[in-house]
Amino acid sequence: MCGVIGFVGDEASPEFFYNGLKRLEYRGYDSAGIAMLSHGQMYIERAEGKLSALEKKLVHLPLKTSLGMGHTRWATHGKPSEANAHPHKSGNIVILHNGIIENYKEIKSFLQENGYVFESETDTEVAAHLLHYEFHKNTILLSPLENMKRSIFALVSRIRGAFAFGIICTDIPDVLFAVKYGSPLVLGLSDTAHYMASGIAALVEHTRSILIMEDREIAYLTAKNKEIVTFEGVPVSRKPIHVSWAASMLEKNGYDHFMLKEIHEQPQAIAQTINGRIDKSTGEIDLQSYGIHHIPLKNINRIQLIACGTSYYAGILARYFLESHTKIPVEVELASEYRYRTCTVNEHTLCIAISQSGETIDTLQAIRYARTHGAHTLAVVNAPGSSIAHHCHDESLIYAGPEVGVASTKAFVAQVTSLIILGLGIAQTQNIMTSTQIAAVCEQLVHIPYLVEKTLSLSSSIEKMAAKLIHLKSVLFIGRGPQYPVALEGALKLKELSYIHAEAYAAGELKHGPIALIDDEMYTVCLAPRDSYYEKTMSNIEEIRARGGKIISIGTTGDHELKQLSDEFIEVEPCAEMILPFLTTVPLHLLAYWIALKKGHDVDQPRNLAKSVTVE
Ligand code: M6R
Repeated sequence: MCGVIGFVGDEASPEFFYNGLKRLEYRGYDSAGIAMLSHGQMYIERAEGKLSALEKKLVHLPLKTSLGMGHTRWATHGKPSEANAHPHKSGNIVILHNGIIENYKEIKSFLQENGYVFESETDTEVAAHLLHYEFHKNTILLSPLENMKRSIFALVSRIRGAFAFGIICTDIPDVLFAVKYGSPLVLGLSDTAHYMASGIAALVEHTRSILIMEDREIAYLTAKNKEIVTFEGVPVSRKPIHVSWAASMLEKNGYDHFMLKEIHEQPQAIAQTINGRIDKSTGEIDLQSYGIHHIPLKNINRIQLIACGTSYYAGILARYFLESHTKIPVEVELASEYRYRTCTVNEHTLCIAISQSGETIDTLQAIRYARTHGAHTLAVVNAPGSSIAHHCHDESLIYAGPEVGVASTKAFVAQVTSLIILGLGIAQTQNIMTSTQIAAVCEQLVHIPYLVEKTLSLSSSIEKMAAKLIHLKSVLFIGRGPQYPVALEGALKLKELSYIHAEAYAAGELKHGPIALIDDEMYTVCLAPRDSYYEKTMSNIEEIRARGGKIISIGTTGDHELKQLSDEFIEVEPCAEMILPFLTTVPLHLLAYWIALKKGHDVDQPRNLAKSVTVE
């Protein structure tokens, strides 16, 4: 977590750093800080709370600089406070950090024994002082630049954990140092400046030429030059990538919140994920355009979907279609648990990492583990140039466009769409489906954006409904078949945004325990569109009703029977079964959004969370 940005070049204002941090605020938002070097003097401003708290302090910073850095924090060690906010300073050295230094206690004791006094509770301050210690240890024959290079090598050889550091030394006023191990870091290149940042979102308004740093690399950046070396000092040469995200895609564009905008972008996200990859008239899947270049799909006889949070639920939902189209067994794995079992993958296993950000450390570690044990690995990601994609054999982008709201919405539907296309591609490669059969599924796929668009018109009626539900303390969600993962997704959205306790169950599981929770105060959101499981789900709804439970149902237009059983009824268009979960997802995203908003919560930045989870 945490967002870092750095600049070395002709000229940057405090607003440059502030605006860059705004683009990274999704990574953490409990305190922030900016450091700017001006005429040999280091100016640092930090503030507890959201970035807006720092805005008031920008006037204390110099009007411009040629070297500076900014940080937005998601607390790991030490509570959110100004003292714990980055950057941290040790004499002539200023450092900011994304990650965790695991052995900070032992280093702290060593530094304290050597006279260093700590002002924060963070692990990062240890890095600042250790670097200072190294820098001042032995300077006689070295220039400040060479001494700093040596000191950084010493630092990285002594610390354990994950880190992306930005470092400035007042004795070297034209160099920005960037260090990466385990936490994401990208460089932005232009003719007049070099940048570093935790994500490309912070850089696209300045440059689209992005160089992705790899683990165990250190960059020495000046306005005109960049040099990258490994932790062993070996020079690295790598070409930058061109990023297609435009700065305008990172604006709210008239919506009150990014989340609402992103919910309304779901049709586009699905359409862009489909675009150029299927031919609905011939039933042909273009696997090259999908991103399959190295993985031998013909030989795959087992699939594992590995992910966290909403991406994990996208995996559970996609499994229904993958299994039905490919006839290959599919397992869905929580990335954070994956490495704690014996890995049984082999050269016939396809492990797919599903991740919006492409940076989730649990997913990254799991997919690396699978690859090391012999599986073929595919990244289904949204953000270009991500670490997860870098560690997989192949990468398939979902093209949902930047997702800024901390709650994932449009990425969910785009991930499921992408995996359906992959399933069809595998079925094509292994001759499991004929082109006529594939064409029939493609015909359904291309209708999804239109039907999702229609479903979005439910927003105002759901807003009214939400006003009646803000007092709820706990809500159950139930669904059967593909509606079960939709229920899981709905419950996650409600709890992370509205802070209302919510649990989702497969509808058939209710009678095995959770039904004891039902009383006349308990609301259950029941997903019961007319699909193959409808009658069984209806029986479960009757069981809730018989025990006095309140029912919010999502069903098919014109379903009077369900409407009569329900306290609140939301209707979606009748359509093919594969399309239904896309439609029932929309009202659940809207319900969570409106309830949270009416409770006065920050829907784009819910408490305690960060969008890109880069700690284990
Ligand atoms: O970037 P990823 O898709 O890997 O992120 C996974 C989860 O952290 C993410 O989906 C999280 O659960 C969201 N807050 C859900 O809205």
